[in-house]
Amino acid sequence: MTIPIIKVQKLDKVFSNDDMLTHALQGIDLEIQQGEYISISGPSGCGKSTLLSIMGLLDFATTGKLFFEGVDVSNLTLEQTAAIRNKKIGFIFQQFNLIDELSVYDNIALPLRYAKQPISEEDINKKVDYCLDVVGIAPLARRRPTQLSGGQQQCVTIARALVADPAILLVDEPTGNLDSKSSDHVMAILEALNNQGTTLCVVTHDIDYAEMAKRKIYLLDGQVLGQTRLNHQ
Ligand SMILES: Nc1ncnc2c1ncn2[C@@H]1O[C@H](COP(=O)(O)OP(=O)(O)OP(=O)(O)O)[C@@H](O)[C@H]1O
Ligand SMILES: [Mg+2]
Repeated sequence: MTIPIIKVQKLDKVFSNDDMLTHALQGIDLEIQQGEYISISGPSGCGKSTLLSIMGLLDFATTGKLFFEGVDVSNLTLEQTAAIRNKKIGFIFQQFNLIDELSVYDNIALPLRYAKQPISEEDINKKVDYCLDVVGIAPLARRRPTQLSGGQQQCVTIARALVADPAILLVDEPTGNLDSKSSDHVMAILEALNNQGTTLCVVTHDIDYAEMAKRKIYLLDGQVLGQTRLNHQ
């Protein structure tokens, strides 16, 4: 049995604001193995983004355990946690969060330029060119994000998430800002990435897109309501 990329055990998350407590997640148990394509769906407010943020080391659980590649993250310093987040996890959100002053190319190169171990310009070029090709936007490399359609901008964020060769892509409502044609295109790219080996966890409340995953997890009121898995894997 291989070590899962992410394992959460009895995970709870309670937000407290102005004396009001919100139990966003309650007793979540989940493992994500290398190469999997998982969707997490459920109604608004059921805890999808909260779970993704905790698995992506952007937020902390209130109680419970999170292991990343077998390492208990509660034993890590903030710096070690940030290092895992930067090196091992690629994020794709509904908002593109691209830098308008930089070209598409430089937006994608950014995670490499901020990497702790310096990377040569030659290697950066190779990696960025590869990712531009993977998402099919090589001809747009010199444009600014503002000169692209929403679907094209989301392709840039996918390339940016891939460029540092992460262990897993965590994706939150990737089609939330897109028309249906661009949404289909973005989801097809994600599916193709998984077919080539990329591990994917996609949060969506779109039933059809959730169905594209090979394992589907349904949340309701912060709890796992059920799971289904394609049998022919
Ligand atoms: N920072 C916060 N402070 C207080 N409550 C929060 C915070 N973030 C989320 N919540 C609450 O936690 C619950 C889960 O929120 P979450 O954003 O995870 O839901 P979601 O399933 O992603 O919803 P949506 O489909 O609308 O994006 C909600 O009740 C929400 O109001
Ligand atoms: Mg959400």
